[in-house]
Amino acid sequence: MKICVFGANGYLGASVYKQLKHVEADEVVGTYLQEPALSDGLVKLDVNQPESFSEFYKKENPDVVVWAVMSGPNEHKLTDQGLMHLITHLTPKTKLIYLSSDVVFSDGNGPYDESDSLSNLPEDHSFSNYTNGKVKAERLINNELTNYVILRAGPIYGENGIGRLDERTDQLSYHLRSGKPIEFRDDLVRTFVHIDDLTKVIEEMIYNDVTGVYHVGQDVSQSFYKFMKATAKQLGYDDLLVKKASEAERVDTEIPKDTSLVTDRIKQVINI
Ligand SMILES: NC(=O)c1ccc[n+]([C@@H]2O[C@H](COP(=O)([O-])OP(=O)(O)OC[C@H]3O[C@@H](n4cnc5c(N)ncnc54)[C@H](OP(=O)(O)O)[C@@H]3O)[C@@H](O)[C@H]2O)c1
Repeated sequence: MKICVFGANGYLGASVYKQLKHVEADEVVGTYLQEPALSDGLVKLDVNQPESFSEFYKKENPDVVVWAVMSGPNEHKLTDQGLMHLITHLTPKTKLIYLSSDVVFSDGNGPYDESDSLSNLPEDHSFSNYTNGKVKAERLINNELTNYVILRAGPIYGENGIGRLDERTDQLSYHLRSGKPIEFRDDLVRTFVHIDDLTKVIEEMIYNDVTGVYHVGQDVSQSFYKFMKATAKQLGYDDLLVKKASEAERVDTEIPKDTSLVTDRIKQVINI
C-alpha cells in the first residue's frame, strides 16, 4: 500500500509520517513546503501549484492520502486550490483522510456531535479564513467523494514524533520555568486530544474500511484554564502561576465559547 502525507513537516503531519515509516510493508511519501525538511525523504511541494501538484500526484499515485496541511490566514486558498487539485486526481479507490477542526462549529454552543450543522463566521471576523476554509473543505469532500474520513479535533497537545511540543504547552513551560505567571481563558471549552492518540486514530483509519465524519478526543471537555492548570501540575510546575485571562473581547475577534465534541461515534469503529 502507498500512503501520501501532505503537510508531513507540520506538528501533526510529522508524527503521522514518522509513525507510518515504521510499517515496513508500506511505502510512505510525505511533502513539506518551508525549509528545512524536518524528516528524511520529504518532497518539497506547494499544493496550491497545479502543475507541480499534478506531476507529483501522478508519479506517486497513492492508495491513501492524509491531508494534514494547514495555513490559518490562507486556509481558503488551501481549500480552493490545494484541496480542489487533490479532488480532481482522487479515484474512488483512493481513501482520503482529511484533518478538520472543532472550529467548524463556530456558533460555540457545544457540545457537538457529528450530525450537528456547521457554521461560518462573518467575512470580517479575524478567524473567518480558517473557519470558513475548513467548513468549505468539509462540504466539498462530502459532495464530491465517497471514500473519505473527516476527523474533527479540538486543540492537539503533547510532544510529537520528532520532539516538537504544541505551541500552548511550549509557552506554558517557558513561562513557568522562569517563574512568570501565564493566563488562559476559563470561558472557552474544548475537547483536547493528545497527538499520540490522534496519530494512532489516523493510522487505524488508513488500514480499515471505515468512512465518514468522526470526532476525536477525550471523553471530558475542559476550559483552556483548567486544562493548562492541570498540565502545569503534571509537568511539575507551580500551577498557581496559571491564572484566568480576561474574557473581554471585540466582536470581530470573538472566540466561539464551547466547541467541545461528543466523541462516542468513533469508539464504535476503532479499537483504540
Ligand atoms: N494543531 C491543532 O491544535 C489542530 C487542532 C484541530 C485540527 N487541526 C488540523 O490538523 C491539521 C494539521 O495541523 P498542524 O497543527 O499540524 O498544522 P501545522 O503545524 O501548521 O502544519 C501544517 C503544514 O501545512 C503545510 N502547508 C501549508 N501550506 C502549504 C502549501 N501551500 N503547500 C504545501 N504544504 C503546505 C506546512 O508546511 P511547511 O511547514 O513545510 O511550510 C505545515 O507544515 C490541520 O488540518 C489542522 O486544521 C490542528
